[in-house]
Amino acid sequence: MAKNRVVLAYSGGLDTSVAIGWLAKDLNADVIAVAADVGQGGENMEVIRQRALDCGAVESVVLDLKDEFAKEYCLPALKANALYMDRYPVVSSLSRPLISKHLVTEAQRHKATIVSHGCTGKGNDQVRFEVSIGALDSSLDIVAPVRDSGMTRDKAIAFASENNLPIDVNKKSPYSIDQNVWGRAIETGFLEDIWNAPIEDIYSYTSAPNASSAPDEVLISFKDGVPVAIDGKPVSMLEAIMQLNTRAGAHGVGRIDMVEDRLVGIKSREVYEAPGAIALITAHQELANVTMERELARFKRGVDQRWTELVYDGLWFTPLRRALDSFINEAEIGVTGDIRMELHAGKATVTGRRSEQSLYSFDLATYDTGDTFDQSMAKGFIEIFGMTTKLAAERDRKYRNGN
Ligand code: ARG
Repeated sequence: MAKNRVVLAYSGGLDTSVAIGWLAKDLNADVIAVAADVGQGGENMEVIRQRALDCGAVESVVLDLKDEFAKEYCLPALKANALYMDRYPVVSSLSRPLISKHLVTEAQRHKATIVSHGCTGKGNDQVRFEVSIGALDSSLDIVAPVRDSGMTRDKAIAFASENNLPIDVNKKSPYSIDQNVWGRAIETGFLEDIWNAPIEDIYSYTSAPNASSAPDEVLISFKDGVPVAIDGKPVSMLEAIMQLNTRAGAHGVGRIDMVEDRLVGIKSREVYEAPGAIALITAHQELANVTMERELARFKRGVDQRWTELVYDGLWFTPLRRALDSFINEAEIGVTGDIRMELHAGKATVTGRRSEQSLYSFDLATYDTGDTFDQSMAKGFIEIFGMTTKLAAERDRKYRNGN
């Protein structure tokens, strides 16, 4: 029988390294490993590429997706001020559709009929991969060995030593970690007891907030919602994130410890660090406060939340996400100007804003001389604005004892 061809999303870690041999045997397949560089840092990608071959992959591909990730995924998230449950900047949620897109391209290029990933059956990532892959090429089959063919942790470790795989099973971290340029997620291990405080060891993008350090002042310039310069020097989206990861990270900005509602129904403890994302979102939100018309801004908050939940739930390749992005891009026109921000002691605090397209009017807002707001008009406005409330309240006092 002809061999199957499988494209595997490869991270270089224990699970996906074992999955190469596991899939080869289980499915009588040639395995093509595909490793995506989404700015996770850490190990050299060439080392990862070679390891896949050493573990038995027939081919091993490394893709540099950093710029595409920053421009096509992190930037829309910034424009949407994407914070799931008001806190989590959808770090892993953003990389999965991009990786899926490239897995599909590689599968088509290598004439593979199966795509594989190392996710368990309990998380969101399996959903994001499989819904995305299904949307892009519904002819592909999907196999997840950890979930579908009993590749438990113990069995993976046994498999690695039986087959002399070039991976140090003792180096396996007690946590499940996923990281990219937009941030880093740390879960499991002692964090599963939600009463346990995080320890300093788990962090790598941020230093501990330190109130006695000197603050770092940064000027971020935006054009139509896009960060285009830092301290007056032009930057790409990727450069903006990387620079703020370093600078905000040094001040412990963007540490998040929360219990989160997963799509699969489980509540889970998550610790994140996303210094660049939090600094950028904080700056962007404040600039929109200055430049975006009130009705649009109020409506956009609902759109932002819907966008975020959609992306969290793995529904990137959907008509609704595309349509919401069109709305958001239109709304962001004019979110242009500068934000001055202080990075210090775990916080990114806006201290100044300026914009040629500002809707803030000093003359209308001031309580000092120069006031152009005709206060006498407010009395009549309130009378009419409050009329239905007054009428309903009078009626209810009569029929509902005032409640
Ligand atoms: N809970 C987060 C999310 O669903 C983070 C997932 C991190 N993934 C991982 N394999 N550790 O987006």
